[in-house]
Amino acid sequence: MGRKRPQPPLHFHHLLLAFLFCCSFSNAKNEEDLVGYGYRVRSVSFDPSGNSLTAHLDLIKPSPVFGPDVRNLILVASLETNDRLRIRITDSEHQRWEIPREILPRYTQLHLRVLPQNHSISPEDDHNSPENNIVCDPKSDLVFTLRRTTPFGFIVSRRSTGDILFDASSDASEAGTFLVFKDQYLQVSSALPILRSSLYGLGEHTKKTFKLAQNQTLTLWNTDIHSSNLDVNLYGSHPFYMDVRLTDNRGKVPMGTTHGVLLLNSNGMDIVYTGDRITYKAIGGVLDFYFFSGPTPEMVVQQYTELIGHPAPMPYWSFGFHQCRYGYTNVSDVEGVVAGYAKAGIPLEVMWTDIDYMDAYKDFTLDPINFPLDKIKKLVDTLHQNGQKYVLILDPGISVNQTYRTYKRGMEADIFIKRDGIPYLGSVWPGPVYFPDFVNPATEIFWGGEIKIFRDSLPIDGLWLDMNEISNFITSPPTPLSTLDDPPYKINNAGVRRPINNRTVPATSLHFGNITEYNAHNLYGILESKATNAALTKLTGKRPFILTRSTFVGSGKYAAHWTGDNAATWDDLAYSIPAVLNFGLFGIPMVGADICGFSGDTNEELCRRWIQLGAFYPFARDHSAKFTIRQELYVWDSVAATAKKVLGLRYRLLPYFYTLMYEAHTKGVPIARPLFFSFPQDPETYGINFQFLIGKGVMVSPVLKPGEVSVKAYFPSGNWFDLFNYSNAVSAGSGKYTTLDAPPDHINVHVREGNILVMQGEAMTTKAARKTPFQLLVVLSSSGISTGEVFLDDGEEVEMGGGGKNWSLVKFYAWVEDKKAIVGSEVINGGFALSQQWIIDRVTLIGFTKAQAKRFKGFEVCTNVGTKTLGDSGNRKFVVMETEK
Ligand code: NOJ
Repeated sequence: MGRKRPQPPLHFHHLLLAFLFCCSFSNAKNEEDLVGYGYRVRSVSFDPSGNSLTAHLDLIKPSPVFGPDVRNLILVASLETNDRLRIRITDSEHQRWEIPREILPRYTQLHLRVLPQNHSISPEDDHNSPENNIVCDPKSDLVFTLRRTTPFGFIVSRRSTGDILFDASSDASEAGTFLVFKDQYLQVSSALPILRSSLYGLGEHTKKTFKLAQNQTLTLWNTDIHSSNLDVNLYGSHPFYMDVRLTDNRGKVPMGTTHGVLLLNSNGMDIVYTGDRITYKAIGGVLDFYFFSGPTPEMVVQQYTELIGHPAPMPYWSFGFHQCRYGYTNVSDVEGVVAGYAKAGIPLEVMWTDIDYMDAYKDFTLDPINFPLDKIKKLVDTLHQNGQKYVLILDPGISVNQTYRTYKRGMEADIFIKRDGIPYLGSVWPGPVYFPDFVNPATEIFWGGEIKIFRDSLPIDGLWLDMNEISNFITSPPTPLSTLDDPPYKINNAGVRRPINNRTVPATSLHFGNITEYNAHNLYGILESKATNAALTKLTGKRPFILTRSTFVGSGKYAAHWTGDNAATWDDLAYSIPAVLNFGLFGIPMVGADICGFSGDTNEELCRRWIQLGAFYPFARDHSAKFTIRQELYVWDSVAATAKKVLGLRYRLLPYFYTLMYEAHTKGVPIARPLFFSFPQDPETYGINFQFLIGKGVMVSPVLKPGEVSVKAYFPSGNWFDLFNYSNAVSAGSGKYTTLDAPPDHINVHVREGNILVMQGEAMTTKAARKTPFQLLVVLSSSGISTGEVFLDDGEEVEMGGGGKNWSLVKFYAWVEDKKAIVGSEVINGGFALSQQWIIDRVTLIGFTKAQAKRFKGFEVCTNVGTKTLGDSGNRKFVVMETEK
C-alpha cells in the first residue's frame, strides 16, 4: 500500500525520443502516402429481411504510414430502426476496442444477425447488381449502398428525395483514400454538398459561430483547457453532427431537411471539415457510424437520444439561480453571500462551495479551521429551512496520504488506475493523487460509500464533478517506444499536436479488465457521472443533481454540464450561446456558462449583460475564479436591479422550463434551441448564432457588446410579443431583422404567436414560486390554434413522468371563434395536479387581430378557473371567454 511509483532515470534515448517526437508533429507527408490505399469487396451477404448486409473486405495494398494495416475487414450495414442506419466496420479476425456494453449499457452493440459469408444475393432483387448492393426498407427513408468498385465505397442516401447524405465512395473521394483502417489510424471521408449543407455539433469546442465554419480541424480528446480558448479540444467529446440542408436545384429536397451522423468511437480523433468534405481521423477503436433520418432537426435529436439515452430529469429546484465562487474563504463568507442575496431581494436557490471547503483539497473532508462541520452544517440547515440548497465540488484525484481514510479504503478496494502494475501517481490540487478507475465496478461501491459517509454528516443536495478529463498537473514521460503513449498519427491536441499524454493520465495506464487509458480516456467523465448518479439516487431516494465538466456521448443521461473556464470578456459572453446550443444537440440540455465570467475581473456592464442572458440559460450559475473581484449579483446596484427583473421573468417561467425538462427527458429535445429548430424552412435561421429559443416559442435576443443599447435581432415569420411588455410586438411577416431597443437594464425576450405559456408568480425560491397560482399567457395565433402544456410533479421524484400517478401533464389549446376566445385544456394522468389544489387565477390573452383588438383594446381576461381545469381527470374542458362584456 502507498508504494510510490519509482521515477525512471532520464536516459539519452528519452531525449532522442523527445526530439524525434517534436520532429514528427506534421502528419501531412504521411497522408500523401495513403494515396491509392483501400479495400475491395470479397463477399456480400444479406439477412433475409433485406434490412442488413454483411460485406467482407480485403486490403488492396499495404501502406507503411501510421502503423500496421488491418488486412481483412467486416462491414455490417443495418437498418436498426426505421430512422436509424448503422454502419460498423471492424477487423474481421481480431477483436478491437469498442465501448463495452457493460460500462455504457444504452448503446446498441451488434444485435444483428450476421449471416454466413456466402449467403447469396437474390438475382431478382433489382436493388442489387454486380456494381452495387443496397440495404433499404420501404418504412425507412435511409438507404445504404455498397459500391463494389476498386477500392470499394459506400453511400447513404435519402429514399424520398434521392439526396446523398454521406458519400464515402471512390468516385467522390480525394485520391481514393476514403477508407483507411490501421491498428492506430482509421480514416473515413465523405463528400458534402458545400452549397446546401450546414453542419452543427462535433464538440466540445468554443466557437465563434454555432454553424460550423468551413476549413477547420475539430479535435476530440478530453482535456483541461480553459474554454476561453477558441477552436481547441476541451473537456468533452461528441462525434455527432447535424446536417441541415437547403433545397436542391431539382426542388426535390424540402428546405431544412435534416439528418444526423454519429461516429460512436471513444478514441482521440481529428475531424477535418472543409465544407465540401468531412474526414474522420481516429486513432483507434472501430468505425461505428449511425445515421439518423430526421427529417426535422427536432426529430434528429429525438432519434439520437433514443440511441444514446434520454437526458436525466433535473430536480425542479435546479432551475433556480445558483451562486458559486472559487475562493470563498470560510463559512461566514458563504453566509454573507446568502445574506447579500436576501438583502438585495434577488432570488438565490442554490449556494455552492468550490475546493476551498476541503481540508488540504482532500475529497470528502472539511477544512477544520475555515469550514468546520458544526458551522457548515448550520449553514446547510439554514439554507434548507429557507427552501434553498447546497452543492459541493468533488475532484477525482484522491490524495496519496497514509492518514487519509478515503485513500486507505481506496487502496484496500484496489480501485485506482494503474501503470506498470501500481497505481498511477498524478498530481492535482492536493499534490500527489491516485485516480479511481470508474471502469471497475468496485469503484462505484467505493465512491458511493465515500459519498455516503460524507453525506451522512452533511446533507448536501447535489455534487459538482470537476477536473474529470482527467486533469493532471504533470505530464508523465511516455513509456519508451510505446505506440500508445506516442501514436503514429498525432491528433491536434490543444491546437498544437501536443502529446496525448499532456497533463492527463498516460495512455499506457490500465483500467479494470486491462482496458487502456488510450481507449477509455474520453469515458472518464461519463463513468464518474454514472457512478455519482447511482450513489446519490440510492442515498437520497430522490432525483439527483450532478454537474460534470467532462462529458461523452450519453452523459446527459446522468448529469448537467457547464461550459468550463470561460473568461470575463464580451467575446466569451457571446460564445456561450453556441456552446449552450451544442450541448442541447448532444443530449445534455441542462447546461450553462459561468455567469459574469470565470477568469479575470468582470465589470458592472459585462456582469449586467451576462445575467440578462444567463437568466435564460437552462442552468443559471454565477461562478468566478480565485483572486478575481467579487461578482455576486448584488455587488453593483445596476446589476442587482436587472437581476431582479430578469430572474423575476425566469421564475415566472419556471413551469415552462420544467415542462421543457420533461420534454427533454421523454423525447430528448433541447431546452435551449437554435432558431432553425422551430423554423427549419427559413434558411436565414441557419446562421443565427447569438439568439436562441427556449422551447419552441420564446426567443432571447441579448446585447453582447459593450456600450450598445440596441440589438439587431432576426424574427422568423409570425407575430412576436415582448414578454416584459406584451403591448410591444414585432410582426415579422415571413421573417425579418429588426433593431430593438435594449437599454442597459433590458434584454429582449419575445414569445411567438401560437404559444400558451404556463407561468407562476415570482418568488425568492422555486419552492415559494410553486405555491403561487398559475397564470396562462395565451398568445393567439393569426392562423390557427395556440398550444402549450405544463408538466407537474413534486419536482424531485426519481422518475419524471414514470408509471405511477404522481404526475400530471396538462395541455392547453386556444383559438378565437366569432365573438369568443376559447381556451381548452386536456389533462393526462391527472392525479398530481388535483392533489395539490393548484389553481389558475389569471388567463391573459394577447395577439388579437387588429379588428379584434379594436373591439377589445386593453382587454385582459381574468378568470379563476379553479382546480378543475388543472386536475380534472382526462377530458377536455373549455373555458370560454366571452369577448363582449
Ligand atoms: C476548474 C473548474 O473549471 C473551476 O470551475 C473551478 O473553480 C476550479 N477548477 C477550482 O476547483
